[in-house]
Amino acid sequence: MNSRFGHHGGTLSLLLTMTVICCCRCMYCAATNPVESMRENVTKLSWEVDYLLWSPDCVEKVVIGINGAFPGPSIRGYVGNVLEVHLHNCLSTESVSIHWNGIRQIGTPWGDGVAGVTQCEIGSGETFIYRFKLDKAGTYSYYGFHGLQRSAGLYGMLIVEDEQKVPFEYDGEHSLLLSDWWHKSAYEQEVGLQAPLPQFRWVGEPQSLLINGRGRYDCTLVPKGGQQNSGDVKVCNVSNPQCSNPVVLRVERNKIYRLRIASVASISSLNFAVEKHKLMVVEADGNYVEPFEADDLDIYPGQTYSILLSTNQFAGRNYWVALNVRGRLPQTSPHLGILNYFPVPATNKPPFPPPKGPLWNDTAYSTAQSQLYKSREGYGKVPDKVQKQIILLNTQNTVDGKIKWAINIVSLALPTTPYLQALSYNIHDAYDCESPPVTYDQSYDIFSPPKNANVTLASMLYKLPFRHTIDIVLQNANTLTLRNSEINPWHLHGHDFWVVGQGLGKFDPEKDPKSYNLKNPPLRHTVPLFPYAWTTLRFKADNMGVWLLHSTVEPRFFMGMGIVLEEGTEWMLEEPPSCTMGCGLTKELANSLLKL
Ligand SMILES: *[C@@H]1O[C@H](CO)[C@@H](O)[C@H](O)[C@H]1NC(C)=O
Ligand SMILES: *[C@@H]1O[C@H](CO)[C@@H](O)[C@H](O)[C@H]1NC(C)=O
Ligand SMILES: *[C@@H]1O[C@H](CO)[C@@H](O)[C@H](O)[C@H]1NC(C)=O
Ligand SMILES: *[C@@H]1O[C@H](CO)[C@@H](O)[C@H](O)[C@H]1NC(C)=O
Repeated sequence: MNSRFGHHGGTLSLLLTMTVICCCRCMYCAATNPVESMRENVTKLSWEVDYLLWSPDCVEKVVIGINGAFPGPSIRGYVGNVLEVHLHNCLSTESVSIHWNGIRQIGTPWGDGVAGVTQCEIGSGETFIYRFKLDKAGTYSYYGFHGLQRSAGLYGMLIVEDEQKVPFEYDGEHSLLLSDWWHKSAYEQEVGLQAPLPQFRWVGEPQSLLINGRGRYDCTLVPKGGQQNSGDVKVCNVSNPQCSNPVVLRVERNKIYRLRIASVASISSLNFAVEKHKLMVVEADGNYVEPFEADDLDIYPGQTYSILLSTNQFAGRNYWVALNVRGRLPQTSPHLGILNYFPVPATNKPPFPPPKGPLWNDTAYSTAQSQLYKSREGYGKVPDKVQKQIILLNTQNTVDGKIKWAINIVSLALPTTPYLQALSYNIHDAYDCESPPVTYDQSYDIFSPPKNANVTLASMLYKLPFRHTIDIVLQNANTLTLRNSEINPWHLHGHDFWVVGQGLGKFDPEKDPKSYNLKNPPLRHTVPLFPYAWTTLRFKADNMGVWLLHSTVEPRFFMGMGIVLEEGTEWMLEEPPSCTMGCGLTKELANSLLKL
């Protein structure tokens, strides 16, 4: 172990992964109070984030890995533990930050991992310490939040256990991390997205779907020719152990397995099914739901689930685990894994074709399934009085000939100086101060492409009245393409929210709130907004900090699809630590704090 990270005293963790430090200049995070860490139950991890040559779907590519492997390690902790990740950015050419998806960061808003909002980017060669409490049991994930680092493979699973209070029983557990995968690099994707029309290039459909970082591409589709060893020829080797075995879930008959599922897909809405087995959904986004049974499950980027699977089928064979693309004309082969009944060899192929799931464009199916989610009895009550309503129109637009996404005609461009630090230390001119519009022109025709596609690029801030109950209505609309509206999953940082309503067409502020479910709406952090539809989220603005609300389709957020919310930063008892600063207008301040 390296003594530069010298906190190995105190009550230490189960999961101590320390590797040799390769590359990094050190930048200490002042957030660690040594007296407190003696008392707390700290799970300490040391991570090196670096480029790797890897073959997730048998095609070799540069990926962003952690501690020499792809995908990143699965973290397991217990409720009440403090997680402390020493992140060494060994990427020689880029900055990084990591978002802990679903962790509300109560009391540690600077730990949320959004460069430009809660911290400065972690520069190449620098070390940053994330430190926050795992305050709620559930299934979570983490992923890179700078540029398209999720598409580049920087992600993993985060599981918080609470053995005492789980409201259901099971005999075994498997984890499944779902993602979509491109052969084009994340950088090539970024350049295409930022190019003005007509050079603009959408990232296109993924080449593969991965489970736990593995998939299988058809090597016969990889172009041959070119000069050997010149980089012209892509390596596709089905014998590579990084891809050679499909995902195998080993089970015994007549038991109940908890499948923990997290999607860190960059664009794809997915459908998950296990041949001949029902899926009992019990948890969504780190919250228990009223159990319901489904043949297959729609999963949107950023969501997490627990399902209970009863192994009540004939044990003399294996069954398919199938993952398919939803909502876009599929050009990606399904991912096929194996549910392996003991003692059948894992290599035995199931005798029948894999389940296909619903038709890709059957939106009614998805809408109906999303209505099945109810919060589990005894797990929280939705406030019935609302103090502020914000209606957010989602549109696809242009800025200076570049394609952007906008919310109420403003496309988000994150500032260089993070909002949280600017607000905490009274730094002026860090972002665009104007108040953003809390609704849109109600005469807007959501069923046609925008009449004037041009919008404004800006870094604005929605200041929420602290501790008030807020309704956010997301309104979907037509894109720039005639007769086209896209599924948009939305994720709120710093909170779970109640999904109190969903409906087709244009939201009616008079009529629609009357149909809200105020009895048992599901509590979530990521929810889909369906084509030409609206969705209402309700939450209490009681978490001091600055929080992003954004589309979890990674390229769409990259193109401006998000807003930034502020809650009670003037009441914060602690200031963001100096290690979260050093960029933009926080440079001098960070230096002066370090000298103290
Ligand atoms: C730390 O957490 C583990 C796992 O929950 C628990 O067994 C142990 O008692 C805890 N230790 C302290 C000092 O709280
Ligand atoms: C393919 O991978 C296997 C296993 O790593 C290796 O033995 C073999 O040499 C590779 N084949 C080629 C053509 O690189
Ligand atoms: C759904 O897509 C299929 C092609 O995959 C097409 O034949 C069908 O008409 C589409 N259905 C609707 C309702 O658009
Ligand atoms: C939109 O912006 C483009 C280029 O920035 C400009 O040429 C065009 O006139 C604008 N259109 C409208 C309707 O303002």
